[in-house]
Amino acid sequence: MSPENSGPAAVIVLAAGAGTRMKSRTPKILHEIGGRSLIGHALAAARTIAPRELALVVRHERDLVASHIAALDPDALIVDQDDVPGTGRAVEAALEALDASDSRGPLSGTVVVTYGDVPLLTGALLAELVATHEADANAVTVLTAVLDDATGYGRILRAADGTVTGIREHKDATEAERAIREINSGIYAFDAAVLRGALMHVTTDNAQGEKYLTDVLGLARAAGGRVAAVVTEDRWQVEGANDRVQLAALGAEHNRRTVEAWMRSGVTVVDPATTWIDATVTLDEDVRLLPNTQLHGATTVARDAVVGPDTTLTDVHVGEGAKVIRTHGTGATIGAKASVGPFTYLRPGTVLGETGKIGAFYETKNVTIGRGSKLSHLGYAGDAEIGEDTNIGCGNITANYDGDKKHRTVIGSGVRTGSNTVFVAPVKLGDGAYSGAGAVIRRDVPAGALALSLAEQRNTEGWVIAKRPGTISAALAAAAGSEAAAPATSHTPAPTEEG
Ligand code: UD1
Ligand code: CA
Repeated sequence: MSPENSGPAAVIVLAAGAGTRMKSRTPKILHEIGGRSLIGHALAAARTIAPRELALVVRHERDLVASHIAALDPDALIVDQDDVPGTGRAVEAALEALDASDSRGPLSGTVVVTYGDVPLLTGALLAELVATHEADANAVTVLTAVLDDATGYGRILRAADGTVTGIREHKDATEAERAIREINSGIYAFDAAVLRGALMHVTTDNAQGEKYLTDVLGLARAAGGRVAAVVTEDRWQVEGANDRVQLAALGAEHNRRTVEAWMRSGVTVVDPATTWIDATVTLDEDVRLLPNTQLHGATTVARDAVVGPDTTLTDVHVGEGAKVIRTHGTGATIGAKASVGPFTYLRPGTVLGETGKIGAFYETKNVTIGRGSKLSHLGYAGDAEIGEDTNIGCGNITANYDGDKKHRTVIGSGVRTGSNTVFVAPVKLGDGAYSGAGAVIRRDVPAGALALSLAEQRNTEGWVIAKRPGTISAALAAAAGSEAAAPATSHTPAPTEEG
């Protein structure tokens, strides 16, 4: 046993059910809250208690579910349940597979059973269940909760002295038993040998014709084992997501908990109700999140950065002291003390250097922007590299796509580009180069050169009065003393663009 696997012998996660109430082509346990699939939450909680083995039982949409699990947790053992229904059968299949996969022979010690669709269950509560189970040398310890409405759940049966004697499924229960409000969460710690022995005697002789895992409690007691319960006050931790209403409620509660945990660790959240943070996000102390901010995926925000309002970031790294206002970003890195927004769209591969700026109405993609460089207003920068302390003028565009392939624009340091410059890639501008307003850069610009695209302006005097009579423009032109009654053209031929 390696020290990092010092927890129970195994965790078995049950995930074979169909989840029909979700009414979805996506298997229920692949639906997400907090940026993780339901099964992803179950795996994360299970891994926290460092089991020596982790098995998941699958059947419905087997291949989709199995490949999702394999991607999340390659060491997990995927077990197929046969067509005998019931939670007891599912656990039996998992035990057989675990026993067969381990060269040291049958599992011994504690086996934890959980479900793939209970996303708020924490590793801490599982650890408490295991600790109680082992400290009291129980044969079975079941996690229970007391609900106002226990309809549908298995009920916990207790003797007059409070001893847990068994579990009765709702469909098999008498009226008196249905009045019991303590429910079976479906999460347990078992002694492996007791579990293996009892499952051999579980039948399908019940209202649903299923092999009930819950029958193990009565069988364990009959064999002389201690059966007990850990009662949790936190009903959210045992709540399953069976339909989309429950999914949303669990998602909101998950978020409430995540946001609260970040506030307790030093993050300012101005409006917790409109701030959504995935389980996978990392925030430093003294980060400030303004209203309507959503942080997803592997997003990280460093100390003193301010994000929001109205900002959605997915897999974005925000540097120390940076400001990101009203921005939609994915796969971007924002340097320390840099500023982004408002109304900015950062696409994957955007890397903004320290103290740099991507301002209002900018779209960026696959662009590296050096320290102190500014793209302040209205433009597109894609497939480009920009040096340090460069100022990109208003309305600049990298014309990176020739209709067939994408090409790169390389702009040096200390460059100043005029408004509405278009970079027709592939093209390079050397350090310290300038461009004039409206320049269309089709050829490389050497360091320190000024690039202009000149098409001389032509004014046709008196044109409005002659061609747009009766308009307000014509009236105002006349009032302005436009004496020219007939058009007179001044025109010199324009030089070619390359000058
Ligand atoms: C089960 C419990 C019930 C408990 C409830 C909590 C049994 C007999 N009953 O109810 O006491 O209050 O959970 O939610 O155990 N699964 C499989 N294979 C199967 C059947 C189910 O893997 O053949 C999985 C499902 O995917 C799900 C979990 O087991 O994750 C529970 O199944 P579900 O049908 O929702 O629970 P019940 O049997 O109704
Ligand atoms: Ca259920």
